[in-house]
Amino acid sequence: MNEQDFSSRFFVNEHCSILGAAIDITVQECLWVLLERLARERRNHLVRCQLFGEMMLEAIQRQGKYRKMISEEYKAMALAAIPLHDIGKVLVSEAILFKQEKLTESEYQVAKEHVCLGRDLIKKVAGNIGDSELSKVIEDVVAYHHERWDGRGYPEGLAGEDIPLAARLMAIIDTYDSMTARRGPADVFAHEEAVTIIETAAGALFDPEMVRTFAALSGHFREISIQYAD
Ligand SMILES: [Fe+2]
Ligand SMILES: [Fe+2]
Repeated sequence: MNEQDFSSRFFVNEHCSILGAAIDITVQECLWVLLERLARERRNHLVRCQLFGEMMLEAIQRQGKYRKMISEEYKAMALAAIPLHDIGKVLVSEAILFKQEKLTESEYQVAKEHVCLGRDLIKKVAGNIGDSELSKVIEDVVAYHHERWDGRGYPEGLAGEDIPLAARLMAIIDTYDSMTARRGPADVFAHEEAVTIIETAAGALFDPEMVRTFAALSGHFREISIQYAD
C-alpha cells in the first residue's frame, strides 16, 4: 500500500468512526426517548432512578455488609443498567402497557413477561455491548427487579441474596418513585407513606440491609423527587 492509499484509507476509517459515534449517540437518544415513553407520564422516572441509585450505591460503598461488593466499576455498571430496567416493555402490547383500568389477571400475566422478554433482548445484544460483565449486570437488573426478598416475586422466585444486588436496589428505588411520582413530589404524605411502606416491607419485599440505607437517605430521596419532578 502506498502512502496515498494509506492516508485515504485512514481518512475513511476516521470518517467511519465519526459516523459510528454519531449513530451511537443518535441510537442512545432514541433509546432514551423510548424508555421515557415506557415510563408513561413519569417523564423523569429514569433520571430520578439513576440519581437515587447513585446515592444508594455510594452509601452502600461507604458502610454496611455489602461495601466490599461495590467497586467503582460495579457502581458504573449498575448505573448504566438502571434506566434499562423495563426495556422488555417494548415487546409488550401497548393496549396492556397503557391501559387505564385495572389489568385483568391474564393481562397482568402478560405484563409480567416484560422481565423475561427484556432479559432475552439483552442476551441477544450482549455481543454488541461487548463487555460481558456489563451485559450481566444489565441482565440482572432487567430480569430480577420484580423479585422479592422472601422469594415470592417473579420471574424465578429468587430469595434473599440470591437476587443480584443491583436488582435488589432497583426494586426499592422503583417502588419509591412509583409511589411518590404518582401523587406529585410536593405531597409530603406520599413521601412519608412510601418510606413507611418500604420500611414495613423490609425482609418481605426488600433487602433489610438496603432498606436501612434507604431510610437513612430518605430525606435526600425527597429532595431529588422535588428537584426532578415530572
Ligand atoms: Fe418492571
Ligand atoms: Fe420503573
